[in-house]
Amino acid sequence: MGFYPTCSSHFKRVKIKLILILIMAAYIFARNEHYIGWKSYFVRPISKDHVRALVILGEKLDLDFLSPPHPEREALVLVPPKHQLEFITRLKYFTIKYWTHAENVKAALDHDDELLRNWTNVILRGGGTVMPYNSYLNLDAIYAYMHDVSMRHQKTVTMVTAGHSFEGRPLRYLKISTTNFQRRLKKIIFIDSGIHAREWIAPPVVTWIIHKLTDDVTEPKILDDFDWILMPIVNPDGYEFSFSKKRLWRKTRSTDTNPKSYRCPGVDGNRNFDFAWGATGTSSNPCSEIYRGNKAFSEVEIRAVRDIFQTYFNRMSMYISMHSFGSMILYPWGHNSSVSKYSFNLHLASSAMIKAIKNASLPNFPAYVNGNSVQTIFYTAGGAADDYAHNLGIPYSYTFELPGLSGGMEGFELDPMYIEQVCTETWLGIVAGITKTIKLAEKDRS
Ligand code: ARG
Ligand code: ZN
Repeated sequence: MGFYPTCSSHFKRVKIKLILILIMAAYIFARNEHYIGWKSYFVRPISKDHVRALVILGEKLDLDFLSPPHPEREALVLVPPKHQLEFITRLKYFTIKYWTHAENVKAALDHDDELLRNWTNVILRGGGTVMPYNSYLNLDAIYAYMHDVSMRHQKTVTMVTAGHSFEGRPLRYLKISTTNFQRRLKKIIFIDSGIHAREWIAPPVVTWIIHKLTDDVTEPKILDDFDWILMPIVNPDGYEFSFSKKRLWRKTRSTDTNPKSYRCPGVDGNRNFDFAWGATGTSSNPCSEIYRGNKAFSEVEIRAVRDIFQTYFNRMSMYISMHSFGSMILYPWGHNSSVSKYSFNLHLASSAMIKAIKNASLPNFPAYVNGNSVQTIFYTAGGAADDYAHNLGIPYSYTFELPGLSGGMEGFELDPMYIEQVCTETWLGIVAGITKTIKLAEKDRS
């Protein structure tokens, strides 16, 4: 008789199963509950005035732009429940074209979660020697890969732990050099990503660059001629949170002396640097997505990036902060409408990048645009990394807004089938940009 479960144990099992399903359902429901009642829209400004109106509306109605508005393309924006009516009324008033992206943002996010669950196998297998580029990887997988690369390439790669995040996770970056960072005359290229947690396409681009400088070197001269600093996850707490709790989390996860920060934790890392800190395009309200923190460098994660700059700025020729999305290469200044005296070279090098990206890109990807930050996205941002770097004298300082396929995407993330495409084209863009800067330097000398 031992072969058959007794009736009562059978029911017990069914009951346990039921409870598990209920817990899972509750978990799924709780995950995106913040977005109950939110809707998302594409907006299509066709003039600078339209873009300016959208930026102002954004501040007034707490809109959350997933891609910056630009006169040549549509932007994707999340609208909170209480401002739906005013949002539409205003767009009509300004005659800005719009169409609905998701009637129910929560349902769209739940759907994305479902997709993500199907990729879990890949995520778990991720890390180590082989890094999959057909799925978004969690922090452990990325850190495991960085560790593995540094072990297998001990002559050229050093993994640095530059302290710990607010919640105690290690802050890690790789130094890659064929001369152990000892050649004082070599210029340094510093690339980071993941300062904004939800921009998941950015970290794989940086791990791909690591791959191209270690396991798959096709541009040996670029590897030889520069020293490299690569930090794929500036904000590990936020990144983990965007996987486990709230997909669209952008900020860090810190709390500070502002009592509101307990209800609304987190600081926008890209508003926390000590250059034009607190200028327009930032907020003193902890509940804002662009909360600047209660002082410059309040965030331990941003202090770790600051320390990299402070140690190496003398030798840095290029800094790139990888973000998404919008297919844009932005350069300083971004805190006010003044123009960098380096604009001409910044423009030439970023145009070379764009040309190379275009050659390698897909027909359904939007074309890149490049330009001064404020003239391109029409909003200012004080305390941002690119301006901080440029102010230290790093000539080629850029913010990349990597591609997103706003028209055809399933939900809010770029379909994982495009991750490798974005990685390969962006790398080619960077190679072309660096090559251009070398030529420009030669021209300056002659
Ligand atoms: N999307 C980026 C952000 O909002 C753009 C930053 C551009 N840089 C600037 N200094 N405005 O953080
Ligand atoms: Zn960003």
